[in-house]
Amino acid sequence: QPRIFSGIQPTGHLTLGNYLGAVRRWVQEDQHNADAVFCVVDLHALTVEHDPARMRRLTRQAATLMLAAGLDPDRCTVFVQSHVDEHARLSYLMECTAADGEMRRMIQYKEKVAREQARGRSVRLSLLTYPALMAADILAYGTDEVPVGDDQAQHVELARTLAQRFNQRYGPVFTVPRMTRPQVAARVMNLQDPTSKMGKSHAEAAGIVYLLDEEDVVRKKVMRAVTDSGSEVAYDREAQPGVANLLEVLAACTGGGTPEELAGEYSSYGALKKDTAEAVVEALRPIRARHAQLCADPSYVDGVLRAGAERARGLARPRVNAAYEAVGLLPPS
Ligand code: AMP
Ligand code: TRP
Repeated sequence: QPRIFSGIQPTGHLTLGNYLGAVRRWVQEDQHNADAVFCVVDLHALTVEHDPARMRRLTRQAATLMLAAGLDPDRCTVFVQSHVDEHARLSYLMECTAADGEMRRMIQYKEKVAREQARGRSVRLSLLTYPALMAADILAYGTDEVPVGDDQAQHVELARTLAQRFNQRYGPVFTVPRMTRPQVAARVMNLQDPTSKMGKSHAEAAGIVYLLDEEDVVRKKVMRAVTDSGSEVAYDREAQPGVANLLEVLAACTGGGTPEELAGEYSSYGALKKDTAEAVVEALRPIRARHAQLCADPSYVDGVLRAGAERARGLARPRVNAAYEAVGLLPPS
């Protein structure tokens, strides 16, 4: 069975982008077809300014939502990154494998530097080395496939490069992973600003659908989505990004055809928005209901995370130890 690894940051409430771009495939495909490992990457969330109490809440909430979305602890491993020391241990070796220039070239780094500076905040050094930690997450588990949204392509590519370089220098310790992306909705856009992605903390909060939004809020956000100046419904990401985004979301939520096919079924923006709003509400309803149930029993979630960390440790430790030995660190006797 292939090994699959993916993660999600507790930097904010999970969005429809997280669900359609990543979590949904983990639930519907990955946990059934592979030995899949899913992680709330809390150490990554420390790379930008954070509030400790909020982060603790968001970490628990992200894990609870992953289970609510349908990850089954009998089929896959779910845990919190900081509970398994191997991530930080291997991250250091990845920093010793990567070049400074490789890190500075990352688009996400440049974007986040600009954002932190615009808010008058200093940039944490860990923001630069973020991809080394992400490579460590992936490589520690001998990962074959990394299911993520499009925005992570550059990071996964760097993880591949680092795996190959490490193996060349020190011997075959790591599997070279590859990225997999969803067929539709690999990059869900902000409903108010359809040229930028629906991130957890975009300035346009009215354009972000959160998994825990009330149904009426979801409807309102979709109905108020910015569309384009034309009036014809066509799937054209360049010329009509707002409409194309709605078509992708609709296609992903209903599974009833490709965005191109669906475009042919609508003659007005209003009808498209209405159907998209309902499709999103339907897709999120069971997740919200299950989330409410799980919140009533926090000891269940704690137990899942404890067992998950235990298993993850067992999977990662031998490979990380092998990497320490391979680079020439004297093993403790
Ligand atoms: P993050 O919120 O950055 O931790 O992302 C967690 C996962 O969700 C990653 O696989 C991302 O690629 C994916 N993701 C985040 N935002 C979007 C989006 N707007 N569209 C598609 N996938 C996304
Ligand atoms: N960088 C990813 C994101 O922002 C989160 C992440 C951290 C991740 N480590 C990972 C994703 C390992 C996949 C595999 O979405």
